[in-house]
Order: sequence, then C-alpha cells, then structure tokens
Amino acid sequence: MCDDPLHPGGHDHHQRVPISAASNGRRVVIAGKGGVGKSTIAALLARQLSRRGAPVVAVDADEQSNLGATLGLDLERAASLVPLAADVGYVEEKTGARPGEGAGEMLRLNPDVTDVVERMAVDAPDGVRLLVMGGVARAGGGCLCPETALLAATVRSMRLRRGEVVVMDTHAGVEHFGRSLALGFDEAVVVVDPTRNAVTVGQATARLAAELGISSVRLVVNRVREPADAERVNGYLGLPDSGAGLSFSSVHLLPYDERALADEPSVDRLLLGSPLADAVDRLAGDLLGVAGDPWEVAR
Ligand SMILES: Nc1ncnc2c1ncn2[C@@H]1O[C@H](COP(=O)(O)OP(=O)(O)O)[C@@H](O)[C@H]1O
Ligand SMILES: [Mg+2]
Repeated sequence: MCDDPLHPGGHDHHQRVPISAASNGRRVVIAGKGGVGKSTIAALLARQLSRRGAPVVAVDADEQSNLGATLGLDLERAASLVPLAADVGYVEEKTGARPGEGAGEMLRLNPDVTDVVERMAVDAPDGVRLLVMGGVARAGGGCLCPETALLAATVRSMRLRRGEVVVMDTHAGVEHFGRSLALGFDEAVVVVDPTRNAVTVGQATARLAAELGISSVRLVVNRVREPADAERVNGYLGLPDSGAGLSFSSVHLLPYDERALADEPSVDRLLLGSPLADAVDRLAGDLLGVAGDPWEVAR
C-alpha cells in the first residue's frame, strides 16, 4: 500500500494537514477510464469556460502530460514544458527535499504553494493558464516523497482568483481518488463512453468521488452516435451490481465527432464550430450555473 502523506485516512500526523477552503474559485476534476475522452473534454471545457469569461487554470495531473497539446499548444512547446514534479528547484524550495528523495525529517508536508499559478503556469489558447504537474511516485515506490506532498498541496491550496475555475485532467482509473490528488475538489466530471467497461469504471469513480466529499458528480457520456448508445449506458447503470443510490447532479451526452480525430490531440479544429464543442459548452454553462438543457444530444 502506498503511504499517502495527505490522505485523510492516513496516520495521525498526516491528518493535521489543513485542507484550505475552496476560497473563491471552484475545482473540477475530470476522471474515467483510459481513452474515453477525458483530455479532449478537459481541454474543450477549459477553453469554453474561458470563452465564457471565467479565469481558468487547466491542471494536467496525468503523468503522460498531453493536456498542453490537446489545449492547442504547438507540439514542440508542449513537449518542452517542465512538469512541476520534475522541477528540482521548485520542489526543493517548497518541500525542503529534492524529487526522488525519500521522506526525511526535513520534508514539509504542507508547503506553501499559493504562488504556484503565478510562477509555474504557462499561457494556453483562449487565455487558459496551464499547470503541468507530472508524475508522482507510485505504490511500491514510496509515496511519502516531496513530489506527492507538493502536488497534493498544489491542487488543494493554490490561490484562486474570484470566479476562477480549475479543470484538472487525470490519468485513467481511480487512483487519484484513493490518494490526495482530488482532495478539496468541488466537482467531478465522470466521463464514460457507451461501453460496459467504461461505465463500470465510471461508477467506481463516481462512488469514490462522493466518498471523498465531492458534492457534485456529473456524468458525461461521450461518443454518442445514436439514441441507442445512451439507452445502453442507462441499462448498464441500472444493473443490480451498479451501486444502488448512485446519483449524478446532471448527465451530458456528447456526440461522436469525426473532427476530434482530424488534428488530434488539438481541439482547435473542434472549436471552430462542431456539435462536440457545442455540447461541451453546455457542460461549461451547467458548471457555471447557467440554465440549459444538459440532456439534449447535440447532432
Ligand atoms: N466525441 C468524440 N468523438 C470522436 N472522437 C473522440 C471524441 N472524444 C474523444 N475522441 C478521440 O478519442 C481519443 C482519446 O481521447 P482522449 O481525450 O485522449 O482520452 P483520455 O484522455 O480519456 O485517454 C482521441 O483520439 C480523441 O481525439
Ligand atoms: Mg488523457
């Protein structure tokens, strides 16, 4: 088991790490099985929220770090970004230890990272600010490490401006919910496609999000080609072993869209005008509390 320094179920001294109130902004975590469209949706959502006037910080918490390119940064620029976890100077300044070092007496578990967005985020299209987190040591590798402490503190306590929205893209699966990364988030967007496996992972994700205290969990069904796809997902959700009592704040159906593949991973082309970008814009409106009809399938 990974000894997580900041998980609320952890050891005594870990529990004293304060969880800052979400202050003015809100934090949205995008989660789900691999390949269902998390990064595409995170990038579209970040840009649509920004186009609607919200200050947006996109956080790439997938160690494969492809959110920059998906947001539309050119590939060379995206590849040149140094993830937070690999920034030796920053990690050491904040935690007192270098990336890769074990937990020494000196490790600060709750580093002051209020300046992280100003100092470390880079500009992405539509005024989105991008923070690339990079990988954290995995189970077995010893998680009581400076990178984990820094990344967890970062998502939990980065200073947000009024009305600012953090959109965090994650790696596949549910691990970030068992760890500290999604702690302090207000909203989870669980992405599935119309397959049984994706819905199973989505349900586990939704349950963990709720257990973690994330009050609003939304379901996004991506790659919907026809009404039967949505009905199939409904059927999977209704299975007896599907976790009775699971409820979603809203459900959004996103259409299958060939344009997603035209110059993937960038969502630039989609944002020129596409049913998929329009559907994600309705999700953006829903998150901002603007009335709409989230159930509508865009065609
Ligand atoms: N609605 C959609 N219609 C068609 N292709 C899509 C759609 N959403 C995502 N894709 C494509 O599916 C692939 C996987 O998407 P991605 O966002 O990388 O998934 P994840 O981040 O969940 O692994 C990408 O090639 C992307 O362009
Ligand atoms: Mg991804």
